[in-house]
Amino acid sequence: MKRINLIAGLLLLTGSASFAQKTGTQQQSMGQLIDEQFNFAAKQYKVLDKNIPAGLTPQSYDAKKNKLVAYDIKWWCSGFYSGSLWYIYEQTKEAEIKNAAEKALKVIESNQYFSGNHDLGFMMFCSFGNAYRLTANPAYKSVIDNSAASLAKRYRPEIESIQSWDKSKYWKCPVIIDNMMNLEMLNWVSDKGGDAKYKEIAVKHSNTTLKNHFRPDFSSYHVVDYDLTTGKVFRKATWQGAASCSAWARGQAWALYGFTMMYRATEDHKYLDQAKGIAHFILNHPNLPADKIPFWDFDAPKIPYADRDASAGAITASALLELAQYTTATEKKEFISSAETMIRSLATPVYRAKLGENGGFLLLHSTGALPLNSEIDVPLIYADYYFLEALGRYKKWYL
Ligand code: GLY
Repeated sequence: MKRINLIAGLLLLTGSASFAQKTGTQQQSMGQLIDEQFNFAAKQYKVLDKNIPAGLTPQSYDAKKNKLVAYDIKWWCSGFYSGSLWYIYEQTKEAEIKNAAEKALKVIESNQYFSGNHDLGFMMFCSFGNAYRLTANPAYKSVIDNSAASLAKRYRPEIESIQSWDKSKYWKCPVIIDNMMNLEMLNWVSDKGGDAKYKEIAVKHSNTTLKNHFRPDFSSYHVVDYDLTTGKVFRKATWQGAASCSAWARGQAWALYGFTMMYRATEDHKYLDQAKGIAHFILNHPNLPADKIPFWDFDAPKIPYADRDASAGAITASALLELAQYTTATEKKEFISSAETMIRSLATPVYRAKLGENGGFLLLHSTGALPLNSEIDVPLIYADYYFLEALGRYKKWYL
């Protein structure tokens, strides 16, 4: 932990150029860097694959106990492992990786009938969505169709949103900004000949989020809690951020990715304008370090010594690469070059693990939920997933 804090301070003082000189990555072409990362990932994930207990999905690694942290398949992250393997397979075409990806799909297949949270998009589209994209296996499509039906059960017409978590002592009807990410699966199913109602839900949810989740500077609240009896906002708060009024870094990344994806799905310019506003909020924020990997919250106490969130960097990079596709001139250049800085930073030894270390995960230094004292400065499976996605997107669109 001390190491990254020290580096955070250094980066803020010295800028990314000298950092890159120290690490040597700036000399490498993006083509070389991307190929190297995928070749590394194929080897590293074979290490990870050996340690996964049957029926569970890998989440993180406890360095002190030298033990893989693996969770039940109902956890929101259960689809990222197979999704990461599919991204690696797409580039390397290794049969062993494909076998592992198929095996990981089997583990989570029954989630298609689960409707206990709003995370079905993360769980089933990052996994089965990529599997179908690469294989066109109709069995995968049917799993995705069923998953969309399960997710749609959480749509609440009273508030025109999908309910994120169930009612509890903390919340009445909470909707979190992360929920934007689950809409891609709904759009996809409608666009592939499924019921049009799924995309209608995605659009309604996005419009409600646009109305209630954002502040004038384009930063977003993490949680908006609704009262289903009145259909009105009950309160705006946070769960994983530093404060209700703060800008939790991963939340801003989900918002950026989600509205960019909604523009792709609908061509509605208000989503594009929102995504651009969010991008400028992130990229112009005075607390964004020179290596462009955010602190866990843009308003975190202890900046510049606060923990980073590599996952927020990876998600933001991937989203910016797509947003750049829909923009022109200076803005496009800024989005691509910022994403490139993020990717190059994540590929340095500061963030990228060595072969055989880190429990087989690719990236170090993510933060899951600091206020809950959970997953602080650790590898997280979704950081790897969006890093791989960003690498693949850069290669497909910009090489
Ligand atoms: N969706 C939960 C998180 O980003 O931590």
